[in-house]
Amino acid sequence: MAGALPRDAVVAVIGAGTMGAGIAQVAAVAGHPVVLFDARVGAAGSARDKLASTLEALAGKGKLAPDAARAAAARIVAVHALGDCAGAALAIEAIVEDLAAKRALFAELEFVVRGDAVLATNTSSLSVTSLAAGMQRPARVAGLHFFNPAPVMPLVEIVSGLATDPGVAATLHATAAAWGKAPVHASSTPGFIVNRCARPFYGEAWRLLDERAASPATIDALLRDAGGFRMGPFELMDLIGHDVNLAVTGSVWQAYHYDARFTPSVRQRELVDAGFHGRKTGRGLYDYREGATRPAPDVEAPRPAPARVAIHGDLGIAAPLAQRLAAAGVSVERRPVAAAFPRGALSIDGVFLALTDGRTATTRAAAAGIDDVVVFDLALDFATCTRLAAAPADRCGADAWGRAAGALQAASVAVARLDDVAGLAVMRTVTMLANEAADAVAQGIATARDVDTAMRKGVNYPHGPLAWADALGVSAVRETLANLGAHYGEDRYRVSPLITRRAASGQPLAS
Ligand code: NAI
Repeated sequence: MAGALPRDAVVAVIGAGTMGAGIAQVAAVAGHPVVLFDARVGAAGSARDKLASTLEALAGKGKLAPDAARAAAARIVAVHALGDCAGAALAIEAIVEDLAAKRALFAELEFVVRGDAVLATNTSSLSVTSLAAGMQRPARVAGLHFFNPAPVMPLVEIVSGLATDPGVAATLHATAAAWGKAPVHASSTPGFIVNRCARPFYGEAWRLLDERAASPATIDALLRDAGGFRMGPFELMDLIGHDVNLAVTGSVWQAYHYDARFTPSVRQRELVDAGFHGRKTGRGLYDYREGATRPAPDVEAPRPAPARVAIHGDLGIAAPLAQRLAAAGVSVERRPVAAAFPRGALSIDGVFLALTDGRTATTRAAAAGIDDVVVFDLALDFATCTRLAAAPADRCGADAWGRAAGALQAASVAVARLDDVAGLAVMRTVTMLANEAADAVAQGIATARDVDTAMRKGVNYPHGPLAWADALGVSAVRETLANLGAHYGEDRYRVSPLITRRAASGQPLAS
C-alpha cells in the first residue's frame, strides 16, 4: 500500500477558479507548499490573496489557529508560467471542463514536472482514460475529484483510468486521507460514483411531477421530512442550477448509450430553455425574485383520530407507527397477518393501510378484492418522521380515506395526499438509488463500502443507499423494484442483477 505524499512535497494547482482555489487551500492547510497557476493573467494572484483572507477569517472564527492560518497562506505561491510547476510531486488540474483543453494542458505538463510526479484531474464528467490516452506516461494520470466547496466537502473520488497505475491511485487515496478527506476509489466510468448514483434522486422527482403525483413543494417536503434528505430534489436542483444538472444527466445518459435509467426530463429541458436556471437566475421550479412567496407543501386537513386501530401481522420498519398511535391514546389491537397484506397492514374500521410495495393502492385493492385500501410511503425513521405521503385506491371511499388519514395524523404525522402513483415518493426514490448503487458495485466501478461512503459524504444522504436497502430488506427492495417495473413496463425500472442475487442468497448488499 503506497503512503501519502510527504508534507513537504510541492503540490501544483492549475486553474485558480472555484475548485482550484479550494483545492489549493486544502493542500496548504495540510502543510504542502502550493504553486497556483492560471492561464488568465492575474487570476492566480487574486485567488491567492482571496485565500489569504479566507484563511484569516477561518482563524477569526476559531476554526484554525492564527499561526497555522498565516503559515498556510504563506505556503501558497501564485506563479506566472506552467514551467514554474516543475518542482511539483503532484499536479492537480482544475481548468475548464473541456477534454481538448485538459489534454493540451497534460501534454505540456508531463514534460514540465518530474518523471515520478503524479498528474491528477478534478474533472467531474470527462473520462480519465481518454484524458490520459496519447500521453507518454498515462500510468501516472488519475482523477482526484473534489466536491464543491472543496475545503468543506469531505468526499474525494480517486478515479482510475484504464492505464492508471494502482500505486498512483493508492498514493492519492492515502494523500487525500492525510488531508482529512474521505477518499473512495472509483473506475473511470460516466459520472464516476456520485454523479451517476445520485441520478434517481432527481429523475424520480421529475417522474412524480410528470405523473402529477403532487406539487414540487410537497415532494421536496416529503423527501426532507420523511426521507431524511437535507434538501428536496427540486430545491436542490434550483440551487445547483438546472442548466448544470441537466447537462450532467444528459452526459451520463449519452455516455451509457441512452440507457432509460438516465433519460433527462422534458420538463427540466423546458426550464432551461426558458432561462429558469434556478436561484442564480431568480427563477427555477420556485420563484426567488423580490417579493415572491415560496409555495407551502400540501397537507391533508385534520381528520378525527380513530378510537381503535388493528395491526395485522408485523409492520416491519413501519412498526413504530403502532407505538406512536398507542402513545396518542388510540387502542391498538394485534391481529394475525391478513392474506392480502403479507408484509403487514393497519386497519381502521374496514380501511386497510399498508406500506407501499411499488404497486399502486388501486392494484393492491383489486388484488385483495377490497375497495378501501390506502398505501403510505417510506420514512427514514417511522419513530420520528413528521410527514408522510399516502394515496387511496381509485375506488376507496372518501370516508375510508379520511379514517386512514386520521390514523396517521393521530400518530403526529402531517399527511400529504398523493395521486395513486406506484411507489409513492420516498420509497421509489430510495429503492431506485439502491438499484443504481447496486449496479455500480456489480459493474466493478467501486466497492459497496465506497459507494455508500460516497453518497453519504459527497451528497449528504442520511444512509448509504446499499445499507439503506439492507435495512429495508433486500427482498422487499427487489419486490418493490419489480413491481415498479411491472407497473411501468419500462427498462428504467429493471432490477439490478446484484439485488436479485442478494435477495435470493439472503446476504446484505453493503459490506
Ligand atoms: P472555474 O471556471 O471557476 O475555474 C477554471 C479556471 O481555470 C479559470 O480561472 C480559468 O481561467 C482557468 N483556466 C482555463 N483554462 C486554463 C488553462 N488551459 N490553463 C490554466 N488555467 C486555465 O471552474 P471550476 O468550477 O473551478 O471547475 C474547474 C474544474 O473542476 C472543471 O473541470 C469542473 O468540471 C470541475 N469541478 C467543478 C465543480 C464545481 O462544483 N464547480 C465540482 C467538481 C469538479
